[in-house]
Amino acid sequence: MQDNKDVKILAIESSCDETSAAVVVNGRDVLSNEIYSQIDVHTLYGGVVPEIASRSHVEKINTVIDEALRKANCTLDDIDAIAVTYGPGLVGALLVGVSAAKAIAFSTGKPLVGVHHIEGHISANYVTNKDLVPPYVCLVVSGGHTQIVHVKDYTQYEVLGKTRDDAIGEAYDKVARVIGLGYPGGPKVDKLAREEGEKSDLSFPRVYLDENSFDFSFSGLKSAVINYINTEQMKGHEINKANVAYEFQEAALEVVVKKTIEAAKAIGCNKVAIAGGVSANTRLRELMTNATKENGMTFYMPEFILSTDNAAMIGSAGYYRYINGTRHGLDLNAVPNLKMDAVDADLSTIYNEGKN
Ligand code: KG4
Ligand code: ZN
Repeated sequence: MQDNKDVKILAIESSCDETSAAVVVNGRDVLSNEIYSQIDVHTLYGGVVPEIASRSHVEKINTVIDEALRKANCTLDDIDAIAVTYGPGLVGALLVGVSAAKAIAFSTGKPLVGVHHIEGHISANYVTNKDLVPPYVCLVVSGGHTQIVHVKDYTQYEVLGKTRDDAIGEAYDKVARVIGLGYPGGPKVDKLAREEGEKSDLSFPRVYLDENSFDFSFSGLKSAVINYINTEQMKGHEINKANVAYEFQEAALEVVVKKTIEAAKAIGCNKVAIAGGVSANTRLRELMTNATKENGMTFYMPEFILSTDNAAMIGSAGYYRYINGTRHGLDLNAVPNLKMDAVDADLSTIYNEGKN
């Protein structure tokens, strides 16, 4: 039983290809987390089609919200505030969640709290790891972001390093496409490398950029894989897809793991977390577990279902924003390239990277 001081957030997420609603208590306890994935729809086209994503969100949003409330054994009367992702993401997709949240806030008179998608990803860690409290270092790896973030407090962040070109998830998806695995790429590369890949003569570049920089670059690695595939195909050679997937992962992950550990050491922090869709990657989880152990650090990761897009993470971030006083008006709009400085100066660097 929750007592009266508990804060119950109804959270909504619709920034890309998952329609999700959740009820979260005090930022940590998930009463429900309904996720409708559009994977089947987009698989037909080999990637996310924005118009189809919006339409699918419209079709599912009410059912997903009703189900989240029903499974949480709640009605809207029990909810303290409505949290919703308002950026970054696909504008048409975001608008569906934002409109639904505003309609509920208007009709119930409950507070509305807009949440940044990446702050949501980071906060997924609070749901899985009840003992995790800031400060810590979080490696954020998703389809649109690759960043090492110093989480100074629940709503206070400093970006220590970020990608200068592609996000790591984009590189995964591109590699999946060129080796013929299709959408959604990341999980397929992960599975193929784990089950059938092994170390071979293949070698792709590890891109560290300047010494002492915590920034990343994945475009060179991506091009190296594409060039390798093209050259081999022109020579009429058969490609060992599993070994390409394996070596691509090793090259990409070795760099992100090393830089995250270095960044944590540089600021004297011994707690490290991971977040975002690519944090579901089994090899990243393994490498990070080992590297943090070797360096005497404590490692935190979200459970698999909370790594990729979901509303429970928005309910957690929304809770910390809510108790910090964030309230949005009914003029809240979807901001596809949301800049954090529009919300909180401390997050400007996270929000400036844009995309999703
Ligand atoms: O966080 P997310 O669900 O959506 C964004 O905010 O972008 O991340 C999606 C990205 C995609 O690039 C997807 O291929 C990647 O996360 N991803 C993975 C895995 N699961 C999802 N990448 C590698 N291994 C995985 N197991
Ligand atoms: Zn995401």
